[in-house]
Amino acid sequence: MLITLPDILSADDVATARRLLANAPWEDGALSAGPQARTVKHNQQLPHGCDAATAIRQMVLAGLNRSALFFSAALPLRIFTPRINRYSGEANTYGNHIDNAIRLKALDGGGTEYVRTDVSCTVFLNDPDDYDGGELTVSDTYGTRGVKLPAGHAVLYPGTSLHQVTPVTRGQRLASFLWVQSMVRSDEQRRLLFDLDMNLLALRQREGETTEATNLTGTYHNLLRMWAET
Ligand code: NI
Repeated sequence: MLITLPDILSADDVATARRLLANAPWEDGALSAGPQARTVKHNQQLPHGCDAATAIRQMVLAGLNRSALFFSAALPLRIFTPRINRYSGEANTYGNHIDNAIRLKALDGGGTEYVRTDVSCTVFLNDPDDYDGGELTVSDTYGTRGVKLPAGHAVLYPGTSLHQVTPVTRGQRLASFLWVQSMVRSDEQRRLLFDLDMNLLALRQREGETTEATNLTGTYHNLLRMWAET
């Protein structure tokens, strides 16, 4: 299931990010890829600790934190430190791959923790008009879909899916990406919960609080209790 999250970053956030990225110390993206992905990964990334990466990932995490849609769709337990990447020039594509299932995250206060990559998230930092190509293409059991969103918007897709970024043939594509370990590991169960939640929201908007809406909210929470790991 692909889910679009509009306006994770404000226009001000995007402008700040773009200013920070203008003089950022980009490095080869293959440095952080696993052995299979390394053979198809041709992009650039920011070093984790640089000022631009630090500032942008704080904005991204704050934006996700504000988003009720993100919470409902991802049911986040742990979020891997967001990275920032660029596709342009020679380093302009990332061929078909599946992300590593487990990432080791360095914690701010020292130490590490594992993050299982149940859900992938790309936050677009510039507009589709700025570049040609650079489409995120995701293949799962529902087929293959291409995604290019306005700056500040994000897309969630299952970590289990084969995906790629097609070559950027003009301009540059700037994005932040991250993984979420969900409280609900199964994409299918997460989707059922998300559908139920979204329909309950619409039902309440139309009918107000009704006995049925109250009871179905109970069903939502009882399913979450049955399926969630915390
Ligand atoms: Ni990937």
